Amino acid sequence: MKVVAFNGSARKDGNTTILVKTVFSELKKEGIRTELVQLAGKKIRGCIACGKCFTNQDKRCAVTGDIANDCIEKMLEADGIILASPTYFADVSAEMKALIDRSGFVAKANQDMFRRKVGASVVAVRRAGAIHTFDTMNHFFFISQMIVPGSSYWNIGIGLAPGDVNSDEEGLSTMQSLGANMAWLLKKIRD
Ligand SMILES: Cc1cc2nc3c(=O)[nH]c(=O)nc-3n(C[C@H](O)[C@H](O)[C@H](O)COP(=O)(O)O)c2cc1C
Repeated sequence: MKVVAFNGSARKDGNTTILVKTVFSELKKEGIRTELVQLAGKKIRGCIACGKCFTNQDKRCAVTGDIANDCIEKMLEADGIILASPTYFADVSAEMKALIDRSGFVAKANQDMFRRKVGASVVAVRRAGAIHTFDTMNHFFFISQMIVPGSSYWNIGIGLAPGDVNSDEEGLSTMQSLGANMAWLLKKIRD
């Protein structure tokens, strides 16, 4: 089994990465393979609303020249998908929003092709807006007919400078519970 995570931060290996890796360590304990895709520095534009994904129905976005189709392929292969983002103006980063719109529309055009995969959102935040960010990513899972495990709190970690989330004990513990619950759910679905 495999879980792929997408980190929408413009900053590679920052707080969002630390939170995702904390979830990963629990998944790995249960023998689940993991892959982290960091969108930082990579090209991904928003949906152009051409609607070609609905006419082509080939599980791909008709807009090429960026990483959207690579990400969509990784989502299709995986049993579980993590969307992770820092909070930017109380919402996801522009890169994460582009990924949501592009992959989400292709999934809709192809009979909800992520249906019944497991999904989880992870958020890094300095102070405020994390719940809105969390909601934005969860909308992707719920409208895609995916199954979303919970944790002991909303999946947020608090920090500003890279590494700050390591001091957020409760945030890290929330990520550990999320990883354990995600692994449990993936195994139940596989049974
Ligand atoms: C453009 C921008 C907007 C931000 N907006 C918010 C915000 O609305 N609320 C907040 O608490 N932190 C905000 N932050 C702080 C980041 O969410 C915080 O530093 C986070 O830990 C960054 O995660 P990273 O290290 O993975 O990049 C913002 C940072 C940037 C660069």
